[in-house]
Amino acid sequence: MNKISSSGHRFRNKVLIPENPSNSSPLATRYARVRAMTKQLIVPMTAEDCALQSMPDASPAKWHLAHTSWFFETFILERFLNNYRSFHPAYRVLFNSYYNLVGDKHPRAQRGLISRPNLTEVLAYRDHVDEQMATLFEKLPSEGAQFTELVELGVNHEQQHQELMLTDIKHLFSKNPLKPAYQSQWPLTVVRARKTRRIPIGGGIYQMGDMGIHFAFDNERPRHSVILRDFEIASHPVTHGDFLNFIEDGAYQRPELWLSMGWDIVQQQQWNAPQYWERDKDDWYTFTLHGMEKIDLHTPICHVSFFEADAYARWAGARLPTEAEWEVVASEIPVDGNFLESAVFHPLALRSDPPRPGLAQLFGDVWEWTHSSYAPYPGFRLARGPVGEYNGKFMCNQYVLRGGSCVTPKAHMRASYRNFFPPEARWQFSGLRLAWDAN
Ligand SMILES: [Fe+2]
Repeated sequence: MNKISSSGHRFRNKVLIPENPSNSSPLATRYARVRAMTKQLIVPMTAEDCALQSMPDASPAKWHLAHTSWFFETFILERFLNNYRSFHPAYRVLFNSYYNLVGDKHPRAQRGLISRPNLTEVLAYRDHVDEQMATLFEKLPSEGAQFTELVELGVNHEQQHQELMLTDIKHLFSKNPLKPAYQSQWPLTVVRARKTRRIPIGGGIYQMGDMGIHFAFDNERPRHSVILRDFEIASHPVTHGDFLNFIEDGAYQRPELWLSMGWDIVQQQQWNAPQYWERDKDDWYTFTLHGMEKIDLHTPICHVSFFEADAYARWAGARLPTEAEWEVVASEIPVDGNFLESAVFHPLALRSDPPRPGLAQLFGDVWEWTHSSYAPYPGFRLARGPVGEYNGKFMCNQYVLRGGSCVTPKAHMRASYRNFFPPEARWQFSGLRLAWDAN
């Protein structure tokens, strides 16, 4: 791999962390920081930017701002705060995403039609929820474990929506002929190419799933045993340069490389490159949160579907790792990398060779598709009540991605984290890493 040589780039990181709030409770502090970060993400945007919906899968930033507040209002304030008065009774339906046990929902594909409430009113809704939550935090010791668990869930839910806000903003801006930049600077410096190696991993009986030390979603539990055969995994994710080699070898014209459903979509959608790629004469460009940029051959490929990832692996004489294989190697490595807090909002080329055991960029940069269907672990149990709808009901027709991306909050990531999307989805920062069966 890395057949194509070019000068790569990397970004000089800067930190994007809101001011430390005054409340001294650790949980209240964490709540306030996450809520502040969400608001900070809309600073580069206009009210018009925040209202638009570019496709049914994506939501307006204004909707994300309101829905995350709805989550705290519906699942915490209504339950724990005596005589709580909602900010607006219509919001219960307007900003319900998919919780059937809560009641009616505004149609997902029509979120871009909600011109009222306007952005100012939605921000006032957020302030109202924050003020009421502050009242509850003052009574924290008397509210108990269920309150704490639900606040943790709400905070993690909001972090998921921070990532979705950025992926949805990117998709929205990509549809604008002016190709606006969410962040105007493109602060990249040259780095050299890295050579991908095959790291051997011994087979055996391993444990995977949440270890029960920190917060985890229900879909990461229970921890359980898995049997792995000997395998090899790539030291680095597949790069834009690798994927360009695939394209130039006829990737999107060769049905033998594709799963049947994937080939159908290639034909129907007339795919000839990853999402956001555009060709100008002999050069490929891609839309980024910094605007249109020439592709950097040494950065991890992103915005590919499961079908494209699988076809690339087949072309390369490899396969996608299973989620168990991915987690076994990732559990040995600290969670570090290019996350949202770097404020780069784009995958980076690697700054230096990875330390032993030689695995680089498992965390951050791009989500890595696995060949594992999103299914319940043995012994999985749904939580009682509406929050039981959070994960379990989506365990059908989706594949698992691991590791987080350049728009995932770092504190949100861990080795056992399971993301999931349908196999045709590619507006997330999704890429891949190769694996091989041991000979
Ligand atoms: Fe949500």
